[in-house]
Amino acid sequence: MKSSELRQSFLSYFESKQHQIVESSSLIPGNDPTLLFTNAGMVQFKDVFLGEDLRPYTRATSSQRCVRAGGKHNDLENVGYTARHHTFFEMLGNFSFGDYFKKEAITYAWEFLTVVLKLPKEKLLVTVYADDDEAFDFWHEMIGVPKEKIIRIGDNKGARYQSDNFWAMGDTGPCGPCSEVFYDHGEHIWGGPPGSPEEDGDRFIEIWNVVFMQFNRSADGSMAPLPKPSVDTGMGLERIAAILQGVHSNYEIDLFQNLIAASAKAVGTEDLASQSLRVIADHIRSCSFMIVDGIIPSNEGRGYVLRRIIRRAIRHGNKLGQKGVFFHKLVTALDIEMGEAYPELTKLKERIASILLKEEEQFAKTLDQGIKILEEAIANLGDAKTIPGETVFKLYDTYGFPADLTNDVARENNLEIDDAGFEKAMEAQRTRARSASNFTMDMSGSINLDSVTEFTGYDNLNGSCEIEAIIADGVSVDSIDAGQTAAIILKTTPFYGESGGQIGDQGWLRGSGAFKVSNTTKQAKAHLHHGELREGSLRIGDVVAGEVDRTMRMATALNHSATHLMHEALRRVLGDHVTQKGSLVNAERLRFDFSHFEGVTAAEIEQVEDMVNEQVRLNRPVETEIMDVETAKEKGAMALFGEKYDSEVRVLTMGADYSIELCGGTHVKRTGDIGLFKILTESGTAAGVRRIEAVTGTVAIDTVRHTDSILEDVAGLLKGNKENVLDKVTALNEHARSLQKELDVLKGKMAALAGADLASQAVDITGGKLLVAQVEVGDPKELRDLLDELKSKLESAVILLASVHDGKVSLIAGVTKELTKQVKAGDLIKMIAPLVDGKGGGRPDMAQAGGNNPESLPAALALVPGWVAERV
Ligand code: ALA
Repeated sequence: MKSSELRQSFLSYFESKQHQIVESSSLIPGNDPTLLFTNAGMVQFKDVFLGEDLRPYTRATSSQRCVRAGGKHNDLENVGYTARHHTFFEMLGNFSFGDYFKKEAITYAWEFLTVVLKLPKEKLLVTVYADDDEAFDFWHEMIGVPKEKIIRIGDNKGARYQSDNFWAMGDTGPCGPCSEVFYDHGEHIWGGPPGSPEEDGDRFIEIWNVVFMQFNRSADGSMAPLPKPSVDTGMGLERIAAILQGVHSNYEIDLFQNLIAASAKAVGTEDLASQSLRVIADHIRSCSFMIVDGIIPSNEGRGYVLRRIIRRAIRHGNKLGQKGVFFHKLVTALDIEMGEAYPELTKLKERIASILLKEEEQFAKTLDQGIKILEEAIANLGDAKTIPGETVFKLYDTYGFPADLTNDVARENNLEIDDAGFEKAMEAQRTRARSASNFTMDMSGSINLDSVTEFTGYDNLNGSCEIEAIIADGVSVDSIDAGQTAAIILKTTPFYGESGGQIGDQGWLRGSGAFKVSNTTKQAKAHLHHGELREGSLRIGDVVAGEVDRTMRMATALNHSATHLMHEALRRVLGDHVTQKGSLVNAERLRFDFSHFEGVTAAEIEQVEDMVNEQVRLNRPVETEIMDVETAKEKGAMALFGEKYDSEVRVLTMGADYSIELCGGTHVKRTGDIGLFKILTESGTAAGVRRIEAVTGTVAIDTVRHTDSILEDVAGLLKGNKENVLDKVTALNEHARSLQKELDVLKGKMAALAGADLASQAVDITGGKLLVAQVEVGDPKELRDLLDELKSKLESAVILLASVHDGKVSLIAGVTKELTKQVKAGDLIKMIAPLVDGKGGGRPDMAQAGGNNPESLPAALALVPGWVAERV
């Protein structure tokens, strides 16, 4: 099975199990500035697991592009030297957000592997977290995996929950025990089962990790339960493809073989087994996709990782003797392999190639210089076998010569590098860099935010705030200059951070620089102000004046308040089963997903609109109170699915107890502020989930006006007015129908005429006539009608008609009854179709086919008389 078929088969399988297919997200995590790269399928769903983001679905599946090139999940150093490490790979995954849990997750994984992919059961074994009896029992009792093939793995990495069978996204975030499926590649390969001393061998390979997400780990190590137990799984596409294609190394699968061949050509080597070619083939994938997602080579953060990978690839090209530029040429080959699944790659391929070329040219200079210094250092080592950490650091820091390249050169010379010494020098530099900030970065580039931002924006849209931290390109910095984009953390802020479905605020932070805030998000307890410094500079400790965009905030508040009123109205009109499944509130409109099993009728929509607008006209105050959860529940407050509540909650009451909900969002002062509420659309998003979109305030008035003006325009086109436009359109429809009827009759007549004309072109063969003709007929039905016409005219005949339309060939063959003994229409089509790159077949008396190559049609048709003559 080809990699592309495998990807599709996985997604289709889970789609058939009611999973929503979700597109791969960018390699830059959208909802998490603290993570350098998307390193697993679950990254785009992090907030859904945490209950901070609601989606209209509770089951999802994806094929996610991932990069693991940094720290906790970092594979860079190993790439090229092992069968399975990559900087870039695709992770197939299925996810449950508080929907199914262990039992179904295990059932699906097993069914997909053994039934859909037909992997032999006896080649599979599984692991579970040591005390996860539940998972053990499902595997044994429900699936029937023998006990000796279910291996319990404890905290084998030292501390509690530090285990191969306890998966965590980073030092903070969603995590939980996991169960892994392993494939036995056979006795001829060295290695032992998981948990054995030989487990690092290549014989038993993990293919699928099924994580039972249950906790959210905080920076202090404490584990809070998730709102609902969930599932996150990951299967590396390349690994499973290797198994299905009967090869041992990922680099032998279809996709890589072509990239390796292209790399060999670009580098100018014939040694296809070279590890350096694997490195290059791997690296062109990560580098290209990083550029697709907007990263460019630089000396900081993500851009720096990209630069390192490009440079590593170039170095391996040099090793194989290629002294000129070559790496950028591989983009074309990559596009052939992956462009279909990722159209964004095709779109940007020229840009990618030109960025890579520039980097290649620049690196050529650095490399010459660095290699000279390194060679000198090696020569000076004498008998010593270790390159000092200081040298490695100096090469890196002063000459831009990456440490992993030094490592590679050392490896080739049978030398080691003093990792500890290098780390020490690096750490000293990092300490200098983050001197004043209070967050730490782990080796994966994750920033652990301990900041707690105090939100002052319920009542004030302005406020002076102190800068606590600045994150640029995924790393913590002391200051930023004009033109830089960054996320700024303030000690107090009037900016609302995106949450509970309400979008984040926009606006300005002004001090010794002017920072345009384009969005505000929340990460743990910190508000992150994302944007660009338009002028001046800003540094940690500066006090800035925060100004929230008032128009946008107010328009958003109208929509948020209207959402609450509508939620209650829906319950009153449709019933108490209506619960919120998702919500989005911004300045333009509101979108609300809720559980309900059939479409909402026009009459019900009207009722809901009326109820909400009645509350608007009553113009009652909107009140908020802080209380403990218990009191809130007693008061009858609606708590929402998946939300995580602190012990103290904010209760929002509208219209004298008309609606009581827990909510942290920003709202109107009185319901009358909403002005007008109008539903735009109602639709279904998943089984049992409906979606309503609506508008309020001036947007609602504009919408009504807009609809009105469309109606006027239509009336104008028909030379009528708003009152009679309906009659005019009805009459127009009638007219179109009668024209169509006349047209059909005419077409029939023309076909008969054409038939008569064609019939006269038939030539004599033994027992009847032969007609081979190319005709100007558009659709297959007309072609069939024409064939029938000709059959009855010619009485005893073999007929082949062809037409070309939009670059495609249509073929139809017909043989009258008496002649079908000698000539079969199906056979004739089977002979002709391949000649025009097509396929087809049919009965002895009628057969059809399509083809893709009109150029070869005349030659193909010319063969028919001879073919028929041999048979009659
Ligand atoms: N998130 C899990 C992993 O990456 C499935 O292994």
